[in-house]
Amino acid sequence: MEKIILEKLKFYNQYHVIDHYKALTKDEKQNMMSYLKSFDIDLIFKIHKDFLNTKETSLKNISPASIVPLPETPEDIKNREMARKKGESLIQNNEVAVLIVAGGQGTRLGYDGPKGTLRISPVKQKTLFQLFVEQVIAISRRFSAKIPLIIMTSYENDEETKAFFKDNDFFGIGEENIYFFKQGMLPTLTPDGKLIIKERAQLAMNPDGHGGSLKALSKSGLLDKLLKDGYKVIFYCQVDNPLVKIADPVFLGYHNLTRSEVSTKVVRRRNVDEKVGVYLNINGKDAIIEYSDLDPTYMTALDEKGNILYWAGNTAIHIFSLPFVKRLNSHGYGLPYHCARKTTEIKTKDGSISSVDVWKFETFVFDTIPLAERAFAIEVKREEEFSPVKNMTGNDSPENAQKDMCTLFKRWLEAKGIRVMPGVKVEISPLYALDFQEFEMKFDKKNISITGNFYLE
Ligand code: UTP
Repeated sequence: MEKIILEKLKFYNQYHVIDHYKALTKDEKQNMMSYLKSFDIDLIFKIHKDFLNTKETSLKNISPASIVPLPETPEDIKNREMARKKGESLIQNNEVAVLIVAGGQGTRLGYDGPKGTLRISPVKQKTLFQLFVEQVIAISRRFSAKIPLIIMTSYENDEETKAFFKDNDFFGIGEENIYFFKQGMLPTLTPDGKLIIKERAQLAMNPDGHGGSLKALSKSGLLDKLLKDGYKVIFYCQVDNPLVKIADPVFLGYHNLTRSEVSTKVVRRRNVDEKVGVYLNINGKDAIIEYSDLDPTYMTALDEKGNILYWAGNTAIHIFSLPFVKRLNSHGYGLPYHCARKTTEIKTKDGSISSVDVWKFETFVFDTIPLAERAFAIEVKREEEFSPVKNMTGNDSPENAQKDMCTLFKRWLEAKGIRVMPGVKVEISPLYALDFQEFEMKFDKKNISITGNFYLE
């Protein structure tokens, strides 16, 4: 095996790795070999070559997708209620599992630790992970359901993530209800296609993108376990959105009633410059195109009223039917690779930290949408469901996400006639109310003013 790998490295002009390898001790060689064995060498250099040779191709036959808009008419409201009932019955029948992808590197946020351990809630400073677990506990209780909570980690953050849950006693969900699996990794390359040696005997690697989640779910054996246990769909979200409504019954119901294989929640794009993927239709198939891959003509196109024509921004909240995921499995999850060109800090072989231009290859989970027989999309309100934490400051920062949570809970209180003084922080635990309807039923205080930080559980 060692010989074959070294031959391959020669073939792909990776002499810097071969020379370095030869000078390593026996243990170090073993370590370096474990990196080299962990990926398909031919594939990675093929992907690199493809990106070197790709000329910009513009996508053709694009049109707006058909999307269920926010409800306006009594008919719309009736349809939503029908969907809610259906979704609730799916949860009750133990057909719904939840997957949170948390394998990313969080480079832009620059937070030291897995993103899910970031403290975010306005009053109690709960972590993202705790907020999600509390939602799953609350939904399971409400519907007397068994909802497996599945978390995807990466090789980089798996141990820390698991230790965090253990140290916090799994936030009360019970260890037996939570599952972890690791996503795949790919080597990071220099722009001219060289593997990067890290420290003495490692290679720089990156997680293979959220598109790796469905493949890794299958590889871990969890997909088959879910199917065997009678689960039909998996609700998918990303670890960075504290406003996500996990296993939203309306969404689940629409997915089922429209017999879709993949469903997506979308929000109106803030403006033509917002860095968000766009949900649209290409050649008769729904798809999401990352903002950086979509021609500016489409990104900035307006309709006859002057509104954004391709208005639907991706929230990365999906439902996947499990038989569809299984079918993708039999096709080898043939998702296209994307290339992120970044500058990153790497501890080099002499121990110094160096800034290196790199190419990272990833697949995106939304590239499964055009592979589905049927896809469904629904508009939701951004201020209620989408406030991702991506950057340290400004747009999509922890500060903004916390503000958005606070504003949402304030609105619930104000709708019940409660006065909330300016500057006061409010937080309502999912364990108290999962949504406004539940809050409205439970909260019976009247004519009060909230003058200091306020928390309900
Ligand atoms: P992003 O693409 O925003 O990446 O991932 P990120 O890791 O959070 O941040 P940057 O780009 O390095 O700054 C969106 C979601 O997908 C997950 C992330 O954990 C986040 O929840 N993700 C991303 C994975 O689970 N694996 C990946 O390989 C990439």
